[in-house]
Amino acid sequence: MEDGKIKVVVVDDSRDTVDNIVTLLSIGGRNIEVVGTANGGRDGVKIVQKLQPDIVLMDINMPDLDGLTATSIITASNPDVGVIIMSVQGEHEYLKKAMSAGAREYLVKPFTSDDLTSSIEKTFELQNKRKHGSRSPDQVIQTRVFTVFSTKGGVGKTTIACNLAVALARTTKKRVALVDLDLQFGDVAVMMNLSVKNTLYDLVRDLKNVDTDIVNDYLTTHFTGVHVLPAPLKPEYSEFIDAKQVEKVVGLLNGNFHYIIIDLPAALNEIVLTALDMSERILVVSTLDLPTIKNVKVGLDLMESIKYPREKMHVVLNKASELFGIKYREFEDAVGHPIWSLMPEDSNTVITSANKGIPFVMTREDTKVAKAIFGMSDMLDNPEGSGPRDDKPVKKKWFG
Ligand SMILES: Nc1ncnc2c1ncn2[C@@H]1O[C@H](COP(=O)(O)OP(=O)(O)OP(=O)(O)O)[C@@H](O)[C@H]1O
Ligand SMILES: [Mg+2]
Repeated sequence: MEDGKIKVVVVDDSRDTVDNIVTLLSIGGRNIEVVGTANGGRDGVKIVQKLQPDIVLMDINMPDLDGLTATSIITASNPDVGVIIMSVQGEHEYLKKAMSAGAREYLVKPFTSDDLTSSIEKTFELQNKRKHGSRSPDQVIQTRVFTVFSTKGGVGKTTIACNLAVALARTTKKRVALVDLDLQFGDVAVMMNLSVKNTLYDLVRDLKNVDTDIVNDYLTTHFTGVHVLPAPLKPEYSEFIDAKQVEKVVGLLNGNFHYIIIDLPAALNEIVLTALDMSERILVVSTLDLPTIKNVKVGLDLMESIKYPREKMHVVLNKASELFGIKYREFEDAVGHPIWSLMPEDSNTVITSANKGIPFVMTREDTKVAKAIFGMSDMLDNPEGSGPRDDKPVKKKWFG
């Protein structure tokens, strides 16, 4: 709201409705400006990500991506955006679903110009209060999605995702889900030593019958309290899972968990890009060798080319040491991003813990690797806090 106006995006598959709303707001909304419109959920998500409005007016029934799923995606990756659901259905069931998808208000069509402006102003005010920390006790959980990614395999993505999920659960006492989207060779369940009942494959097969309550039954609870959605048990099952379903699954988890941590394969495909789109932060993992640095730079460049804000990407340097010929500063110059977190090599701790199936943040809290993970968890939970790396040459910048 830089120029004093509340920025609004309108998403509705009926062009007439969009036009009507724009007209209603031009009559009644002195402080309100429609900065963008979309005629489907999918375009709506894209426009919101690009324009970062204050408020989104969202229809429910749309053919390409329904308004509830679109709302889940938007609120997971843009917690400061207030979504108001508009629907002809005034039923209680829709209202509940809208709220658990992260919507702030529910407007039943047809509405007057006054209804509309007061709902927008009220939601905007509430969002502002939330942003500045005054939370009401009965507030729906606001989910934040963090993804661990790299364009190179074997750099420590799964190690970081598992330990980070446990560190967040331990230190914040909040609800944490860990989702393994390495569909062919996911090893989160092995690293956490879980006996798996259901996997993502089972959930996707039943997706039509699953709602935001039932989805919890598909996750396996680790003894640390982290709720894990494991990858399919066989690589060939991955063929039955597509990006739309993954989007829906994350949408269903949204509202149930404070944090969703996603582990990804070293690949760039539609499912990976969908997960990256839905994430508020992406931890981009690299090691300090030339082939990895080259690939990580390709990945970071791609994310910039699709207009991700730079602040969304956090570079994690794993197995870090300046002893092998490349300095941290040279690495930062090469990839064009500051190092957000450094994790040293410690095979004794990391590999022993992986072999026992116990995350090292549980049993080896005093090691430098565990401290690095707790540092990441603190920074993600509390963006104002200080980082783990004191000798950081490029100053950290935080948003939201
Ligand atoms: N800081 C570290 N010190 C020592 N070993 C590590 C460290 N981080 C990860 N490893 C080891 O490196 C190997 C790869 O780690 P991990 O499986 O987490 O990587 P990944 O990026 O998820 O791999 P993939 O691309 O195959 O999914 C494992 O054997 C792990 O124990
Ligand atoms: Mg992995």
